[in-house]
Amino acid sequence: MKVTVVGAGNVGATCADVLAHKDIVNEVVLLDIKPNFAEGKALDMWQTAPINLYDTRTVGVTNDYTKTANSDVVVITSGLPRKPGMTRDDLISTNAAIVKTVTENIIKYSPNTIIIVVSNPLDVMTYCAYLTANFDSKRVFGMAGILDTARYRAFLATELNCSPKDIQAILMGGHGDTMVPLPRYTTVGGIPVTELVAKDRLDAIVDRTKKGGGEIVNLLGTSAWYAPGAAAAQMVEAIVRDQRRIFPVCAWLQGEYGLKDIYLGAPCILGKNGLEQIIELKLNNEEMDLLNASATAVKEVCSVLDTMNAAASK
Ligand code: LAC
Repeated sequence: MKVTVVGAGNVGATCADVLAHKDIVNEVVLLDIKPNFAEGKALDMWQTAPINLYDTRTVGVTNDYTKTANSDVVVITSGLPRKPGMTRDDLISTNAAIVKTVTENIIKYSPNTIIIVVSNPLDVMTYCAYLTANFDSKRVFGMAGILDTARYRAFLATELNCSPKDIQAILMGGHGDTMVPLPRYTTVGGIPVTELVAKDRLDAIVDRTKKGGGEIVNLLGTSAWYAPGAAAAQMVEAIVRDQRRIFPVCAWLQGEYGLKDIYLGAPCILGKNGLEQIIELKLNNEEMDLLNASATAVKEVCSVLDTMNAAASK
């Protein structure tokens, strides 16, 4: 098994490193446009293999897509990260051009690959990769829900002073402030979270989750990488090991939840074919209203991309 991670910045390098530690693929190719950057990071990672006892070979390349040939999975992390004061949507034109070029190069050498998009604004960049690759949508989807639920679960673990392992949760919608954490589908060791956390505290945690990316940007001056990188690696693992795990994934909806032709976070099964199934929950009216509001926000940004593409093809 071979995995390529495009972009050797903080998120891409973390993803490659976490993947290598999992010891589940033969090779991880790390590609970046900055000369020698991916080579240096991949070499440093490879030198941890004798210490951490794994076999996965990490290989760094400068924009040489021939080295990515026949990848089973490709993770695209390229693009500029957010700076304080920016929304993820501010990145659209710059990052769309980058994601388009990367996708074109990837599919040239790995026409059967599965693409996981991590670049921001996430839902729109996933749409951009899908339009460019022209693959079945089972093979193009985005990482955001695992990250956003991880934040939600981490906050709950802190609140309850319990193990994050015991917190199960689902969250839907776009990867932005309109995301929809679902307390009704959140359990702690099998116990509904609503029985353990008071409503006002739970509301505060939901709100903090929605702004979780921005909280890190404000602290660091750039966006997060440990959790986003680990989340993308977890998706790769589910695919290469055919685990059929259930995660919130940015998926191409075709009528599910009454939504059509939109990439949006929904619970999905990930396995060897990529996105094996989208699960339809029975959302109540309030949850459905929040999901529709999130879909509207994502559609608006996608229409910016559609307008840009229409202008470019004239
Ligand atoms: C975040 C960025 C990576 O949520 O979107 O941290």
